[in-house]
Amino acid sequence: MTTFDVAQLISELTLEEKASLCQGSDFWHTAGVERLGIPRITLSDGPHGLRMQPDEADHVGISGSLPATCFPTASALSSSWDVELVHRVGEAIGREARTQGVDVVLGPGINIKRSPLCGRNFEYVSEDPLLSGALGAAMVDGIQSVGVGTSLKHYAVNNQETDRLRVSADVDERPLREIYLKGFEHVIRHAQPWTVMCAYNKVNGTYASQHRWLLTDLLRDEWGFEGVVVSDWGAVDDRVAAVAAGLDLEMPPNLAESAARIVAAVGAGTLDHAVVDLAATRMLQLVERSQQKAGIVVADMDDHHRIAREAARDSAVLLRNVENILPLHLSPTSRLAVVGEFARTARYQGAGSSQVNPTRLDIALDEIRRLAPEGAEVTFSPGFGIVPSDVDEALRAEAVVAADDADTVVVFLGLPASAESEGFDRSHMELPANQLELLDAIAAVNERVVVVLANGSAVRVADWKDRTSAILECWLSGQAAGGAAADLLLGIAAPSGRLAETLPLRLEDSSSFLNFPGDSGHVRYGEGIFVGYRGYDAAGQEVSYPFGHGLTYTTFDYADLAVDLAGSYTGGDLSVSATVRVTNTGSLAGKEVVQLYVRALESSVARPVRELMAFAKVSLEPGESRTVPLMLDGSAFAYWSVVAHDWVVESGRFEIAVGRSSRDLPLRREVVIVGSDLRVPITADSTLEEWLADPTAAAALRAAFGTNPDGSPAGLLADEDLLTVIGNFPLSRLAAFPGMGIDRATIDVLLKELGG
Ligand code: BGC
Repeated sequence: MTTFDVAQLISELTLEEKASLCQGSDFWHTAGVERLGIPRITLSDGPHGLRMQPDEADHVGISGSLPATCFPTASALSSSWDVELVHRVGEAIGREARTQGVDVVLGPGINIKRSPLCGRNFEYVSEDPLLSGALGAAMVDGIQSVGVGTSLKHYAVNNQETDRLRVSADVDERPLREIYLKGFEHVIRHAQPWTVMCAYNKVNGTYASQHRWLLTDLLRDEWGFEGVVVSDWGAVDDRVAAVAAGLDLEMPPNLAESAARIVAAVGAGTLDHAVVDLAATRMLQLVERSQQKAGIVVADMDDHHRIAREAARDSAVLLRNVENILPLHLSPTSRLAVVGEFARTARYQGAGSSQVNPTRLDIALDEIRRLAPEGAEVTFSPGFGIVPSDVDEALRAEAVVAADDADTVVVFLGLPASAESEGFDRSHMELPANQLELLDAIAAVNERVVVVLANGSAVRVADWKDRTSAILECWLSGQAAGGAAADLLLGIAAPSGRLAETLPLRLEDSSSFLNFPGDSGHVRYGEGIFVGYRGYDAAGQEVSYPFGHGLTYTTFDYADLAVDLAGSYTGGDLSVSATVRVTNTGSLAGKEVVQLYVRALESSVARPVRELMAFAKVSLEPGESRTVPLMLDGSAFAYWSVVAHDWVVESGRFEIAVGRSSRDLPLRREVVIVGSDLRVPITADSTLEEWLADPTAAAALRAAFGTNPDGSPAGLLADEDLLTVIGNFPLSRLAAFPGMGIDRATIDVLLKELGG
């Protein structure tokens, strides 16, 4: 274990050495300073397994990385809604990092799934910031609990691949806070990742890599981040502006220029030497942290494969299960047709920087055959070629014959690897036509069709879901995906995933549709806070499957929702505790994800119909009941005010709704919250309505207009009809009209009385 005296080292380092510490020494290492015993440390992708490239590997490619367990990708693992499971996966990734000499894992990625088309949706958690933050924090905690750092990425507003190194994400203050930054804020405050990776894109016109408000004012000063900000690989446009904004480490290094530019800027007086000291200090603290690893860590790869299989099982979302066709109860006389190339050629992870070289690979077909009872017949037909253009009539015909001959058909469908990847966005969300033609042909000859899906981003199911008896959405579920699918199909385990993103009827229904992916260097986030289910719900759109949906092999009953309030919002200690009794009413064990949504029943600003504010995953035996607690604090009722530039809770009625998905909420209770109502100061530019809505201003105004002998308001204020027409006029404008009974001087007197 090495400890440094960081302050002492800073005093001994030359400016040139400090500048060199602020960039890597190669693609995956920071720079060391040999004469002072400062070692270099190793960073490696991330996020669902390691992509550690040994020194001789090509450093830009995705081949040549050491074998590592490929866990379910984020879109899969997040569908588990299971913080404990995500933590355990994180610990396993951390252990492998320790054994491979990796100091910082470049993940997790928690950017919001703004559009179903984003090419990296498979690497991201959810369309919802609470879920993104909770699962992101669990992953960071898990990895860091074994002494390995993380890099929370991509900070911020990196929600598309199109023009990702230059595009400006133009987003208003409120959605920025409520949707795009909220998950990052949660992870920073609750899990303190060792590093944060800044995004490639610009945010409202400024590169994230040189955005002082993002990297310093918000991240460090407001949220309390204590670690290093590292650039995404190649995200630095102007190294001097970036270090001044708070970007400590440039990766990979621009060895020919960056350090020299920093030194020159300090020499020229355009960059404060103290800024370089600060960045170098943070780098030394990171190096020191990475040297504190205690004990020897062993990574048991068999055990990690078991965790990967468990995680894949708990991540699969059972979208549909007509007449409980699943689990399949195979007997020695069963005839099962397995169809689809993906049953033998696993699609289990996405392409790009997150690509892991797996330690082994479960093949669904082999696993089904292994688990099927002796005597049961399990046939296989590929049914389609994986490249969409190789529609093969013969393959389809052969599969139809097998399906016709079978009791049940399990069809493995999904997106080919070429359809989704880091680096580009999708242009549609359909499954390939040859797969859908196959499904049609099979459904025509066999009524018992089960579809198993493998895709990283959401696919459209509306046109074909009714032709199936069951759909098991497995996402890209890592190296054990095939085994997990077999376990679930044959009832060795029950699926317990829930959708972390809505499946819309049509792409056009998604709220970002008209503004994705932008053009001319800008993408306008015109839908504001109405992202994902917030958008579908606000527009009252029917969807194929709502956010939070997922079935299992049993059923659950909800009863006895109780909600208790304690403390106060203004006192800073409001706590709302809800409890609900959940009972497993079926004959098999199962896991339920209990979800709590909050709705503001009265508000002066636009609010979503409902927002996820708490969830818990519980495991129940048949007949078992459990009282599940769900805790909220004041933030569950807050919105970001663009007037106060702060979180505001308005006093009023809120609905707490609890249930099994965002659109299946059987239990509801109303609570009244006393908030920190925003008092907008009354000015000459306040409208007549605003004056009248403020009790003190209204009294002053009424006094100025006077009253009739019967005590009713006089003049302008007496005419209700007129008030509805001119109520939205600023008082100063009315004063300019002749005969209104008020002039500018009177307004000034009133404002003085009001203390203005
Ligand atoms: C990706 C990051 C990744 C980095 C290093 C970038 O292209 O955006 O997510 O960690 O490369 O491979």
